[in-house]
Order: sequence, then structure tokens, then C-alpha cells
Amino acid sequence: MSIRMESGTVDTNRDIEVFSNVKQLPGEHRTTTGDTISQGYLDRQAASESNARSYPRKLPFALAQAKGIYIKDVDGNVYYDCLSGAGAIALGHNHTVVQDAIRTELDNNLPMLTLDITTPIKEEFVKEILSCFPEEFAKNAKVQFCGPSGADAVEAAIKLVKIATGRRSMAAFHGGYHGMTHGALSMMGNLGSKNLIPGLMSDVHFLPFPYNYRSPMGDVGVDPDVACSNYIDTVLTDDESGVTKPAGIIVEAVQGEGGKIPAPDAWMVRLRKITKEQGIPLIIDEIQSGLGRTGKMFAFEHSGIIPDVVVLSKAIGGAQPLAVVVYNKELDVWGPGAHAGTFRGNQLGMAAGIATIKFIKENKLADNAAKMGELFKTLLSGIQADTKCIGDIRGRGLMLGVEIVNPLSGILQSGKPERFEKLARRIQFECFSRGLIIEIGGRQSSVLRFLPPLIITEEQVKHICSIFKEAVIAAEDTMMVSPN
Ligand SMILES: Cc1ncc(COP(=O)(O)O)c(C=O)c1O
Repeated sequence: MSIRMESGTVDTNRDIEVFSNVKQLPGEHRTTTGDTISQGYLDRQAASESNARSYPRKLPFALAQAKGIYIKDVDGNVYYDCLSGAGAIALGHNHTVVQDAIRTELDNNLPMLTLDITTPIKEEFVKEILSCFPEEFAKNAKVQFCGPSGADAVEAAIKLVKIATGRRSMAAFHGGYHGMTHGALSMMGNLGSKNLIPGLMSDVHFLPFPYNYRSPMGDVGVDPDVACSNYIDTVLTDDESGVTKPAGIIVEAVQGEGGKIPAPDAWMVRLRKITKEQGIPLIIDEIQSGLGRTGKMFAFEHSGIIPDVVVLSKAIGGAQPLAVVVYNKELDVWGPGAHAGTFRGNQLGMAAGIATIKFIKENKLADNAAKMGELFKTLLSGIQADTKCIGDIRGRGLMLGVEIVNPLSGILQSGKPERFEKLARRIQFECFSRGLIIEIGGRQSSVLRFLPPLIITEEQVKHICSIFKEAVIAAEDTMMVSPN
């Protein structure tokens, strides 16, 4: 089996060979609508599932099989999966180490669900997850198991710091994303998700995040990230700022849903300094960026800071649901049952998580993420030079974003062309119809986001970028933004 590329052909990864009934490979143009088997599933889904469903509207297919970076739909089309369960599938689909861990659990009749009662698997998971952190953090850390969504870990972290400090407010960042439960949603930047919900958690203050391509501070004559941290310093120290001292500040070291925006290291260091001086627990949300994705085990490690609290989910369960809060034991003053949840004891997730963590460490997948991320950036920069609509390419490791702009809009006050949501959506569609799954996000949904599994190879990155280039050109032509 081979895949056609711009320059010749390459053998496909053996992963595709486990699929039965393959009709089209990634890179081949296919019909995505009309009388397909997928369409039947989508129609039935629309009739029976909630109007709140989201991904099927942008990625209109039904899935049949998945292996490695590849997924196959019910019509036999194969796709590159650069969404990876929103970053949860670190080793790619159905990795053998994960399958083996789950099989062992089942074959030995191990308990599957244990609330927060301990087990040998749980003890090993705690040891493994703590071993991923810098020693300075791990030696003082404790772990709270949560209901299995990232949002529940965020809720737990809010309670943890509120109880420990006795304060009532929280601070979060413009563009931040922490989940869809009420507390987490209250700390979200995106207004689209919040506007219709009355009575969110009160007392959340928002601070500017160093989105340096379009700085929230405008042109103030110093580096935009310095301006952001100066402002944060003022808000937290000025006794006329109107902002009561928060129980905690929550931040993503690389904003994910907000558009793959990495915080500069110096900014993170300054944030840590300010929060330490003010006695404000710093919560790092590593739910999307954790476990090697950004080129280090955790994104906060790029800056060398030591946080007070880290929230984790997605990759730590090896594609099974699992979420934890890892925090400095000085904060461990909450009482029994202060945070609870039936599904805290998902042993399949812990077993799959142990296998995933070990594989990431043994195979240096964080280094692979860094290397493949650089290759992506180089190839994407080439595409930027050959096309008209790519404003910014950013991210860290395999957490990458491409901001789509309207080249015909002229330059706005921000010094940049306007964002172009419609074109971003069109590019996503053109990618989809060529067998490449990418997500969109960021402000005005103008950022195309790449979150492939950490096992991605150089050949796959090159092929993905060649498909992406074709998709950008096709979308530009369709939307007539290309003067050529
Ligand atoms: C940074 C971050 N925090 C929290 C969450 C919420 O996780 P979940 O969707 O599992 O509730 C997400 C989900 O994408 C995320 O990216």
C-alpha cells in the first residue's frame, strides 16, 4: 500500500494495514457528502442526539476503526488524525502497550471501579505520574483523583485553593479554556460559550494573556509580554485596582482552545514571581499540554517555574477517562469528602495511563514532539510563503496553531489583517475531504489547530503538510482571496 505525495510515493505506516475495507487513503480527494454510509449515521445522530453536539457538524463522518495516527470511517476512507481526541490520544489509537495493559486488567479480574479506595494499580499510577514532575515539585506533592473529565479536576482545584486560602475570588486569563462545568466555564475567555448561561461562578477576574501576534496591551513601546505582566503586577498590588486578592490564578502555559498560544518563558517566570510574592497559589492547567506534548513532560517546565497546583487529564489515562489534581501538600487542608465523585477510581484508565507514561518516557516522545513540531513549523512557514492567508504560525511541540487572516482586509489597528473565520472553516473542510483531520479554534474560530499523536513520524508530518498546502490553495481559490 502506498500514499501519493507531491514528490513521489512513500510506503504507508503499517498501522493502516490493520484496517479492513479501505477505499481511499489520506491525500486522495473524496466525496464527503451525499449518499454515503456516514451520512446515514449522521442523519440518525441528528435525529436522536442533542443539538449541542459539535464535532460532527465540522467533521461529518462516522468512525469505524482507528490505529496509530490513522482513523477509518464507515465508508472506508482513511484519515490522518491530527485531533487525537482533543489531545487525549498521546500514543495514537489502539497502541499495543495500552491494549495490553487493558487486557491484563480484564484477564485478571481486577476491580474496574474503586471510588477512591486504593489498589496496586492506583499506587503504581501515583508513583508514575509523580515521577513525571521535576523533583522539586514532586517531593512535596499530593494527588487528588477526580471525576474523569478535565473540568472536574479544575472544579477540584478551585475548591482546593479557596479552602486553603479562605479567599473567594479566582483569576484567569483572556483566551483561557478550562472546561464546560459552571466553575470552569466561569474562568473561560470565550464569550460564545458563556453568554447564554446566567449565574456563573462570580468573582472571577480576567487578566491579559501574552497573545503577542495581536497584543491585548496594544502598542505600548515595550515587549507585549512585559506589558502584560506589568499590568498583572499592578492589578494584584494596587489597593485601588478593584480586584480582591484571588484564591488562585489559573493559566495554561500554552493556551489550547484559545488558539495554541504559548506563553513566553520570561512571562511565566514573572507570573510565578508575582504570585509567590502575593501568596496566590498558581494553578497550571496542563490538561491539554501535559505528558510530553509541548516537547517537555509539562509545558510549565519550559520556563523552569515550580507551580503550586497542576491539573491533568486527557493523555494521562491513555485514552481512557481519568483526571487528577497534583498540588503542594501545604494546600492539603481540605477535609474528607471535600471533593468526591463516583468515577474517581477508573482502574482501566490508571492501567492505560501507566503504560502510556512509561512508553512516553522510555521512547523519549517529548523529544519527538519537539522535533516534529519544529519540522511542522518549517513546512508550514513554506506554505505561508506560497499562499496568502496564513497570518501566524505558533505553538510548542505538537500543539500548533495557524491563524488564518483575510489578505484583502487591509491592516487593522492591531497592525495585522483581520481574522478570517469562513476561510479557516473552508480550509478545515478541504483538509477533511483530502483525509486530514484538524480542528479550528481561537478567537473567531480563525485558528487551525494541529494536535497529532506524539508517535507521529517525519514522513507523516511531510505528507500532512503537503495535504494541508493543497487544502489552503483550494480554499483560497474557492473564496477568491488569491489575486494570482
Ligand atoms: C486546557 C484545558 N483545560 C480543561 C479542559 C476540559 O477538559 P474536559 O473536556 O475533559 O472536561 C480542556 C479540554 O479541552 C482543556 O484543553
